[in-house]
Amino acid sequence: MIHAVRFQNDLIGWYKKRGRNLPWRNDPSPYKVWISEMMLQQTRVDTVIPYFKRFIAEIPTVGDLAEIEEEKLLKLWQGLGYYNRALNLKKAARIIVQKYDGRIPSELRDLQSLPGIGAYSAGAIASIAFGKAVPAVDGNVLRIIARITASRENIGDPEVKKKIESFVTNLLPAEHAGDFNQALMDLGAGLCLPNGEPKCGECPVNGFCGAYRQGVCTQIPVKRMKKKRNIEKKTVLVISSEKRFALRKRSGDGLLPNLWEFPNFEGTLTLEQCGQVLRDMNLSVQKIVPLKPSIHIFTHLEWHMTGFFVLAARLQDSPDLIWASVEEIRRRYSIPTAFKEYVRYVGEKRLLNY
Ligand code: ADE
Repeated sequence: MIHAVRFQNDLIGWYKKRGRNLPWRNDPSPYKVWISEMMLQQTRVDTVIPYFKRFIAEIPTVGDLAEIEEEKLLKLWQGLGYYNRALNLKKAARIIVQKYDGRIPSELRDLQSLPGIGAYSAGAIASIAFGKAVPAVDGNVLRIIARITASRENIGDPEVKKKIESFVTNLLPAEHAGDFNQALMDLGAGLCLPNGEPKCGECPVNGFCGAYRQGVCTQIPVKRMKKKRNIEKKTVLVISSEKRFALRKRSGDGLLPNLWEFPNFEGTLTLEQCGQVLRDMNLSVQKIVPLKPSIHIFTHLEWHMTGFFVLAARLQDSPDLIWASVEEIRRRYSIPTAFKEYVRYVGEKRLLNY
């Protein structure tokens, strides 16, 4: 058994000296902590920082978030991916206004009942913003505790996760649980690394670590391979006409709901097949140039895309397309990161041949 108080002191002492200075840590108000935790799900800290600052400046309170125009919200989120997180934020804000008088609840159960907040985020918000002694166990913490306990159990197994949660609960200090949890996050991000050699020599709790003692850190954690992702092939068309670009709104349900995209078609189309598709869209092609292929990986799915740049004359506007200017694409329409490779070509003078 680990000596909990010593472990806490060593870990929190290190965090006070070496913890990262992050914008949501200066003033850990429930709103800021909530927003940061939603952004940090699936996304790296470095990427989140500028988005977080912009978001808080543009939408400073729960009340503002409850009323925000969806298009504006999605634009603020553009590039972060997993857009359901943004839509859930607004849904949750409305519930907080209606049910909790605009104040973010502090109880785990209430937090977890809000859209977008799972066990990890609820634990992080309750401990960081409200000082509750509850665990926040994500992949980093699973890895750290598997190493501390030198456990070779599969951390992908929900039962193993439960065990680790109760292990962390027993280690948590009654006070400063937020610091403790964030110290684990920083340890996972900076020292107890997932790939390659962890920096055990610098670790403040290496004296408590079974895997370090046994010299087996790189063999732990054990994680069984996930099911393989499905692959979808697509052909993306960056169609330009009169210095505007064709965009289409994705449907409200399914992947990337309500976001804007370049028209795209199932399968890897040849130049000739693209020509036919464009004629079906009532466009007259003046120039067509193949673009680089691109792969985008979602949690359960991969898109393998090829693309064409098309300069066209419009014969007749189609009801499901809009024609956006470069400026509008920059400021107004949210195009998911999956199309990043093709957004690069918007306004590309070489292709437009102005
Ligand atoms: N990852 C998830 N939550 C975090 C936080 N509060 N600080 C740093 N990394 C995190």
